[in-house]
Amino acid sequence: MATNRTFTMIKPGAVKNGHIGAILAKINEGGFRIVALKYTKLSAEKAGEFYAVHSERPFYGELVKFMSSGPIVAAILEKENAVADFRTLIGATNPADAAPGTIRALFAKSIGENAVHGSDSDENAAIEGSFHFAGTEMF
Ligand code: RTP
Ligand code: MG
Repeated sequence: MATNRTFTMIKPGAVKNGHIGAILAKINEGGFRIVALKYTKLSAEKAGEFYAVHSERPFYGELVKFMSSGPIVAAILEKENAVADFRTLIGATNPADAAPGTIRALFAKSIGENAVHGSDSDENAAIEGSFHFAGTEMF
């Protein structure tokens, strides 16, 4: 995957609260092109695998339970400087610290249920995109 791509998920809480459309609109307005898009659900096993990097952290169990609690929207997004610009668009992990107007400030309920995921590096963007999408699903 090229380095101008990032990977995101609209998390179960934001889906359940009806924010898919509004979050996709923010992504569009932010200048990101949708390369791949899927409405799906993670099994607990798959969610655990996705967040394996956090397996030693105290919140890992809650995170896996939450991420497998309902459907998500997964997407690969393209834009110059995609990883950093998307993290700016979504705001801080804890919505209490997220800048006004960011996706987490607008739609997140708590640090655990924080509306969206955003890749933290080009390398992880490529790994995470491939975790969810086949090459034939990327356009
Ligand atoms: P994400 O990976 O989902 O985009 O979030 P992030 O980079 O902003 O934060 P990260 O450190 O990667 O943590 C992954 C997710 O774990 C949950 N978390 N809970 N209760 C806590 O203290 C805590 N800390 C992190 C959050 O849902 C976070 O998005
Ligand atoms: Mg992260």
